[in-house]
Amino acid sequence: MKTRWYKDAVFYQIYPRSFCDSNGDGIGDIRGIISKLDYLKELGVNAVWLSPVYKSPNDDNGYDISDYRDINPEFGTLDDWKEMIAGMHERGIRLVMDLVVNHTSDEHEWFRQSRSSKDNPYRDYYIWRKGRGKNGKKPPNNWTSRFTGKAWEYDETTGEWYLHLFSKKQPDLNWDNPKVRQEVADICNYWFELGVDGFRCDVITYISKAEGLPNGKFNPIMCGDEHFVLGPHIHEYLKEINEKAWSRYDTMIVGEAIGCKYVNAPELIGEDRNELDSAITFELMDVDMKMSFFPVKLNLPKFKAVQTGWQSLPENCWSTLYYENHDQPRSITRYGNGYGYYRNQLGKMLALSYFMLRGTPYVYQGQEIGMTNIALKDDEYVDIMATRVFTLIKKFFPPLMPIARWAMAKRARDHARTPMQWENKTGAGFTDGTPWMKINPNLGEINVKTEQSNPNSILNFYKKLIEFRKGNEIIRDGSYTEYFNSNKSVYCFVRQLGSRGYITICNFKEKKVVLNVDTIPGARGAGLVMGSWDTQDAVLGDSILLKPYEGVVYEFGCDTAGN
Ligand code: GLC
Ligand code: CA
Repeated sequence: MKTRWYKDAVFYQIYPRSFCDSNGDGIGDIRGIISKLDYLKELGVNAVWLSPVYKSPNDDNGYDISDYRDINPEFGTLDDWKEMIAGMHERGIRLVMDLVVNHTSDEHEWFRQSRSSKDNPYRDYYIWRKGRGKNGKKPPNNWTSRFTGKAWEYDETTGEWYLHLFSKKQPDLNWDNPKVRQEVADICNYWFELGVDGFRCDVITYISKAEGLPNGKFNPIMCGDEHFVLGPHIHEYLKEINEKAWSRYDTMIVGEAIGCKYVNAPELIGEDRNELDSAITFELMDVDMKMSFFPVKLNLPKFKAVQTGWQSLPENCWSTLYYENHDQPRSITRYGNGYGYYRNQLGKMLALSYFMLRGTPYVYQGQEIGMTNIALKDDEYVDIMATRVFTLIKKFFPPLMPIARWAMAKRARDHARTPMQWENKTGAGFTDGTPWMKINPNLGEINVKTEQSNPNSILNFYKKLIEFRKGNEIIRDGSYTEYFNSNKSVYCFVRQLGSRGYITICNFKEKKVVLNVDTIPGARGAGLVMGSWDTQDAVLGDSILLKPYEGVVYEFGCDTAGN
């Protein structure tokens, strides 16, 4: 059944709230997506990962689901959704939905039932425990929520606590209960019957908790991880859902795999494992973000070592390639000088630096036009993570506010969630009404319309690059060799299949760099295929002078460039 179509896919991630608003209420919606399907087709992507559109009270913008089988009315109806997927399929674009099943919303019917009494049939769908201490007024263990504070909430009705690794409106499901696993399989099959091509499984590495829920090693921010990240039954549970649902259709299942490093990836994504097809790893994100929170300076050799690790996985493992998504800051700001003089070259160089690798590349909405982080005042942040951090610090450690502001300016999830910049006009072509979140004031320069009309834009570069990757066997199947791994400015690797191959050289620094490439077999005489500046020599010699943020691809083993 499995054609593994995703090996030839380029994904585009849509965060529906911020993509396109069709009815002027300031919130992106499904009809908005429908109106942009031709845009996606023209960009050349052939798959979409759609962040959640299910019914949700939006405590975490849809990552708290109250009905897995229906659409949030803010986004439209199931009929709109059906029109959307039909429109995608007509254009050769597959649809991968978000599957958020580590937890539900506290407004899900299962949880309403579960909290109502200790003998309710749904009680065991969630993780309930008595508290510690006199009168059970202390939480059952010391685990913390990923959104700050304790991971337990006391519930008056039955006098017990429930576990929530995210907000208290996101109670964790009890995966040790076979009924819960059956529900998850049923949800998947429901959407497969409606034509969905796969799932991106939200925080899937958290689903199995250690027996007895023991205390974690002391850690004020992230406590308990060692007892639920890749927990004791994770493989068993994934195999079960795979058997009951994922393997029954021609799907792609990619897991958001927090804590999964390239050394343990084969256990999760090896094709013989029948678990996940691929993993969205955080290993790269953790290079310049300690505990997923504190920004630290990018160490390029470390960054390259992580990429090289994932590129060196066994043949039967498949990587997910990405720099951005709805939880990460904008890559142009993160890895470079952001809204600076070389934004155009930087955006293109970054694209080359991951598109030429083995795996499935993902482009997050706005990345293709080089959208940047936004400067926000304290009260302009809307995401639960930033607002919780600010509230907590203002209340308990006010002197730390400048540090919190500095960290959020670099890392808040809000940066990725500002509305898509379609046009230079009020509302950015995103909405005719008042946008749910502030639009980046740089929309005058950075918007789709402007980029479309400029042949040298980042957008047109992405189009070229996506086209170039399509059906390219060297990029899909070729070997990977890294060069100059300790070089602090340049990422250089060779992809090769038979006698043909590509040399990719990317300068991550905003300054000129000279690199002697005569140690790379095939380098001398290789022909230029693509570059982030238009000034590079058509034929590679023994050394190369790279301009600031210059990225280039040279091809060897053929007569002329690009043939
Ligand atoms: C994932 C999502 C994130 C969400 C969290 C809880 O990390 O990507 O947006 O807040 O899971 O569902
Ligand atoms: Ca709307």
